[in-house]
Amino acid sequence: MTAAKDGFRVLPGGTLTGTTTVPGDKSLSHRAVMFTALAQGASRIKGWLSAGDTEATLDSVQRLGVRVERHSRHNLTIYGGTFVKPERELNLVNAGTGIRLLTGIMVGQPFESVLDGTEQLRRRPMNRIIQPLRLMGANIESVNGYAPLTVKPAALKAVRYSMPMASAQVKSAILLAALFADGETAVTQPGPARDHTERMLSAMGARIREDGNTVYVQPGHTLTAADFTVPADISSAAFPIAAALIVPGSDITLTNINLNPTRTGLLDVLLEMGADLTVTETGLEAGEPVGTIRVRHSALKGIRVGGDVVVRMIDEFPIFMVIALNAEGETLVQDASELRVKETDRLAVMVAELAKLGAVITETPDGFSLKGAQSLKGAVTYGHDDHRISMSLVVASLVAKGESFVNDARCAGDSFPGFADVMRGIGADVSVIDLQEAAQ
Ligand code: S3P
Repeated sequence: MTAAKDGFRVLPGGTLTGTTTVPGDKSLSHRAVMFTALAQGASRIKGWLSAGDTEATLDSVQRLGVRVERHSRHNLTIYGGTFVKPERELNLVNAGTGIRLLTGIMVGQPFESVLDGTEQLRRRPMNRIIQPLRLMGANIESVNGYAPLTVKPAALKAVRYSMPMASAQVKSAILLAALFADGETAVTQPGPARDHTERMLSAMGARIREDGNTVYVQPGHTLTAADFTVPADISSAAFPIAAALIVPGSDITLTNINLNPTRTGLLDVLLEMGADLTVTETGLEAGEPVGTIRVRHSALKGIRVGGDVVVRMIDEFPIFMVIALNAEGETLVQDASELRVKETDRLAVMVAELAKLGAVITETPDGFSLKGAQSLKGAVTYGHDDHRISMSLVVASLVAKGESFVNDARCAGDSFPGFADVMRGIGADVSVIDLQEAAQ
């Protein structure tokens, strides 16, 4: 295990109460930066997520010559319209969304670019975008299907493409490349992957329409500058939601959460499990429905999860595993093999790390099964440089008997800077400490 210097120290006990929110939506923050960079003129983005992944995207558009005025960490003006050939490679660090969507844009540019990232990003499959983009005529070189990706100028043609997996990143890469193609492109997805690209591009004047599971886009990359206020990320909200569900006596309210139906699979599943959740829509932000979620500690029952709901909660499975451990009866998850190609193999890693807390979970090729409700014991676990793993282990530790440490707090900042502060704000005993010092 690589010892990260910083970790979370977690103590169980107490109840979670109060009203809070979480940082801006990561998917929208990546897109807002990339799409306004393509648009002629000034676009103002408020509530932007400043996190490891999204800062890498912002840095990349700046390397492409786009001027960014930073009013504060979360408020930016992007002056888009023209890209210049970057002097160095575009470094997307750990961001899968960053590299896949930006490749879709780079294939349409009249200059060569190289897109790369950390060792972790270099292990993530890129053939899923390379193959359809090559069908469109893109010139992409890779290292056996992995980053770094070298993109050379090429004329793009329209395609009809049926995606083999439900992935918003793949869908978005094709839709973006299609803006530079010679006719109408159609992308058919096997399931309802998040539709932020479609919503944001159409708000910026792109000619894009949906018919069932197929999205059609007409070329013409002159997007109109637009102002966006990014709502809070439901994938980050999932951690306090889970904590309140499993810590006895809890009652919390989360405000301004993005409730786009392609992202709310977890809420649907939790309601079916008997969760005491009240979801109230309050309006629209950046073309997305937003609202308030009240969560109270609940007696949950196990559930079978599979099919179309999987993609609507794809990032929530690590924390869902923790919730399921605390539900009465059997939980079975199927059709979720995509979890194996996220920042880590999230099925294998969660099963192994939760075992350190005493959990018994059976891993299957496309999911897992377990019998709840299990009692957990305090332990030292490891986040594997995967934000959602680290934060899920913190929440699991809140109901373990005794003190726990989660090695690797840094990675939580890839999507949820201030995670420990938000958890402490609702009463959880979570702190970031120097684990090396703690061990002495
Ligand atoms: C994302 C799509 C999902 C998700 C990721 C963000 C996006 O990935 O897991 O965290 O913003 O488009 P896939 O498209 O690979 O499923």
